[in-house]
Amino acid sequence: MKEQIEQIKENSIKELSNAKDLKELNDLKVKYLGKKGELTQVLKTMGTLSTEERPIIGSLVNKVRDELNELIENKEKQLKQIELNQKLEKEKIDVTLPASKNKRGSKHPLNRVIEEIEDLFVSMGYDVVDGPELETDEYCFERLNLPKGHPARDMQDSFYITTEYLLRTQTSAVQARVMMANKEKTPIRVIVPGKTYRREDDATHSHQFNQVEGLVIDENITLAHLKGTLEVFMRKLLGENTQLRFRPSYFPFTEPSYEVDVSCFKCGGKGCNLCKQTGWIELLGAGMVHPNVLKMNGYDPEKYTGFAFGTGLDRLAMFKYGITDMRYLYRNDVRFLTQFDQMDT
Ligand code: PHE
Repeated sequence: MKEQIEQIKENSIKELSNAKDLKELNDLKVKYLGKKGELTQVLKTMGTLSTEERPIIGSLVNKVRDELNELIENKEKQLKQIELNQKLEKEKIDVTLPASKNKRGSKHPLNRVIEEIEDLFVSMGYDVVDGPELETDEYCFERLNLPKGHPARDMQDSFYITTEYLLRTQTSAVQARVMMANKEKTPIRVIVPGKTYRREDDATHSHQFNQVEGLVIDENITLAHLKGTLEVFMRKLLGENTQLRFRPSYFPFTEPSYEVDVSCFKCGGKGCNLCKQTGWIELLGAGMVHPNVLKMNGYDPEKYTGFAFGTGLDRLAMFKYGITDMRYLYRNDVRFLTQFDQMDT
């Protein structure tokens, strides 16, 4: 029996020290020390031994069991460390690898210009309002002193949807809306940025473009207010040295009416290809609100006067950012859009 125990000890030590992982180690523990394990089996046959042999064999078995337990414990520690090392190796992060880039969107130059204009006018006490793009003939024309059949309707080729509805050709339509919506007929100070539509089919015009409208109505508003406002507006957007030139013009809803040119910001007024050698660039339509328009929309022209102006945002953005082709504004090319991230003022 003593030899049998020695044999078990020898075998188990060999197998235990070769165990490759924790599972194998656990199986061996069961194999030798478990309830039905080899060493336990030996203990069960103790009854057959003589009384002198029993304590000797008993203590031998206990000694071997203690030794094996200690061996298993050490081996377990060792295997756990190996497993941990393997796991750490596998999950290692290479901090020198280049990071995957998060692509950010960029603000469209048109929105940059709109926001800059809004900030400026809000700081001067204006409200920013909008109106429908699908507009009625009434607001787009009639309430702006352009009755049906008026020859000036030909100035703007319109997209009619029905005889009554059209895509608005000008943000001026919102002038009439704001006046009509103001039931108390109190003073008005608004700007209206928004999309406009015309049936243009030549290369330099788009059928959809953007305008910003301005409307001020109060007592004692004069042409001086209009000039001062447009000067502040254009100098803020295009530079402090920008000069303005008012040329008499015609719009049915303003009297007097002007086309407003700004000094060419590329050549400073000397003449270049951008301003076609004239030194000036036409940028706005403006004028004093026509008494008929005030009357038609519920304002007493004896008490109130006002001014209005309108400008094309697309052209303004192009000039401000030096964009050479209007189509760039509508291509949604991220490479184009990101260029303006550094240019913000
Ligand atoms: N609505 C005019 C246009 O689109 C511009 C304008 C606005 C003129 C306000 C006078 C006053 O051409």
